[in-house]
Amino acid sequence: MNRPSSSPGINIVPLIIIAVVVIIGGIVLSTFAPLFFPAQGSAQAQQIDTLFQVMLAIGGGLFLLVQFLIFYSAIRFRIKDENDRSDGPPIHGNNTLEIVWTAVPAVVVVILVIYSYAVFSAIQTPLENEYTVEVLGRRFAWTFTYTAAPDVLDPATGLPVEFSDGNLYTYVGQNLRLEMTSVDVNHAFWVPEMRIKQDLLVGRITEMRFTPIIATGPAEDGLYYPQAGFPIRCAELCGDGHGNMGLISTLVVFATQEDYQAWFDARVFEGLNPPDDPAVFGEQILAAAQYPCAGCHTLTDLGWAGITGPNLDGIGDRADDRVGGESAESYLINSLRHPQRFIVPGFSSALMPQFVEDNPDDRNYMPDQDAVAIAAYLCTQTTTGESACSVDELNAVAASEVTQTGTGAQ
Ligand code: CUA
Repeated sequence: MNRPSSSPGINIVPLIIIAVVVIIGGIVLSTFAPLFFPAQGSAQAQQIDTLFQVMLAIGGGLFLLVQFLIFYSAIRFRIKDENDRSDGPPIHGNNTLEIVWTAVPAVVVVILVIYSYAVFSAIQTPLENEYTVEVLGRRFAWTFTYTAAPDVLDPATGLPVEFSDGNLYTYVGQNLRLEMTSVDVNHAFWVPEMRIKQDLLVGRITEMRFTPIIATGPAEDGLYYPQAGFPIRCAELCGDGHGNMGLISTLVVFATQEDYQAWFDARVFEGLNPPDDPAVFGEQILAAAQYPCAGCHTLTDLGWAGITGPNLDGIGDRADDRVGGESAESYLINSLRHPQRFIVPGFSSALMPQFVEDNPDDRNYMPDQDAVAIAAYLCTQTTTGESACSVDELNAVAASEVTQTGTGAQ
């Protein structure tokens, strides 16, 4: 307290040197940042990365400045005498300094606000020739619904053909618009390579746009569900299968519009011409993730590893061996129609959708044809590979008033 307070004259040269080092340091830090980023997969990613680099350069410079001052102060102002317990000299106010440290950050923040808003607006502006894919999020899977050109009509409905898939397909240069909503809780659609993330909310439509600029790997097993692609993450904790949502769906970017159209046309054709064998059809439906089963169940044949619901490996044998009089056919069909009727010990039916057959607008709509096909395929999950079911019986169960099959004692 008794030391004289003195303010030494400010030497401008060290300040300029520090400023230059801090600015160059910030720029160097931001230059190396892209090395840690995932691939720059969309046109929007370029704008977002540039914005991020500008912010990192400023933040990096600030970081260096603060670190420098900490080290400088620790060394320069350390106590000389270990027994010195006195306070430092009282210093009150420095208008110049206070104006500078208020005005400079204020200007920087205003510039960042304007720049960020410009980028934010740019990536949300509707693009030319957008193609819209509907995205449904649910615990614990994504469903993408595609609509064919207006002249490709479904004879059953007279409307343009629609089909669903668990993967998102697009091609380099396609202006994609996602129209998204959730069935149950908040989810967040996130593909790091595209630098886009958007929440999905119950009862509301949110949208998101991007234009892919790099293709993913070629399909390894035909045009369907290639494993190569950018993983689609869920970025909102939505339950015990949250992590699994990032393992089952990918964003597949075809190199050309022709490749994409070939895939699209094949899907439309197969949708209009399902295979005669229901078990083959069922495998096709499940493999394309038209229904969100993969998020919760394990089924090794299809590469599913969900743990929220019962394991479906060997389900044909178990359906056949059930005691209590219910046939395998009735057990499997009714497990889709009335999941609460058959609770596997250790599991709950709370998250299993109750698939309905009478309302095409219901998000859990599953026509009898699909239910029979899925059950027929699951019936082939036996040690011998022999189906545990008769297709005629599956059809009979599905066609009967399934809500009345009730007690399980037949
Ligand atoms: Cu869906 Cu986390």
